[in-house]
Amino acid sequence: MHSTLLVELVNGVFIITINRPDKLNALNKDVFADLNKALDEVYTNNQIQSVIITGSGLKAFVAGADISEFGNLSVEQGKALAKAGQDTFFRIENSPKPIVACVNGFALGGGCELAMSCHFRIASINAKFGQPEVNLGLIPGYGGTQRLVQLIGKGRAMELLMSAAMIDATTAFNYGLVNYVVAQEELINKAKEILTVINTKAPLAVAGCITSANAVFNENENGFAVEVNEFGKCFGTEDMKEGTTAFLEKRKASFKGK
Ligand code: COA
Repeated sequence: MHSTLLVELVNGVFIITINRPDKLNALNKDVFADLNKALDEVYTNNQIQSVIITGSGLKAFVAGADISEFGNLSVEQGKALAKAGQDTFFRIENSPKPIVACVNGFALGGGCELAMSCHFRIASINAKFGQPEVNLGLIPGYGGTQRLVQLIGKGRAMELLMSAAMIDATTAFNYGLVNYVVAQEELINKAKEILTVINTKAPLAVAGCITSANAVFNENENGFAVEVNEFGKCFGTEDMKEGTTAFLEKRKASFKGK
């Protein structure tokens, strides 16, 4: 049980809804603790094939880290806060199961950073994205300076980071920050539709795609070498034998995640 999240598992899709609508789903310590528990479940529960992260209510995905917790932190405490947030978001980014952000409203500060740590994003028409930290005398601390540059390019990211400007869903789509913009009532359905397809694919191969694509942005790794390794690993799986045999036998493959 989570005090700040609603979770639901439907046909292999685990839906995590951040549930503090009166505070526009701002990320406080409790949300981070609950998110980490939910991620434990994502990593260990075989019934969970893929994940949606969204916000409660019609107004906000997540309006940022909870500013009321920033009060009197020291420099060292500020660093620890950023590190803890980054570690949680690395768990999302490195999840072997696909995680999609359904951005249903404001995705500001830590909310934009949370969405960017997911494998891809779908927005409702009313969604708004931004990194308004400089308004508070801060910078993004949960990976925002890195992932915004990765996702939309340095020039656009620099402008957003320094100006605190908010962009709407159409601009986010044009920048490549979100894959689709849909009506709010269609948001979860659109993600389910895509994940239902992905859930039919070989899970270890899907995980290999995630590991390899993430390696592009890890300077300690050679992404091409990671790809060689992940490709090779597929040959040791039952699912690869099943997938290739099924193709040759002109039937649909049935994958087991082994
Ligand atoms: N941290 C803590 N509380 C937050 C919050 C945040 N990041 N964002 C919103 N809230 C709270 C507000 O304080 C308010 O609480 P209250 O009703 O107890 O006063 C409630 O959520 C509703 O927000 P409100 O500002 O009244 O809504 P609005 O429609 O006028 O404005 C926003 C919406 C998103 C523009 C505005 O809430 C905002 O600018 N939020 C902060 C965004 C931000 O700087 N995020 C980065 C943090 S590092």
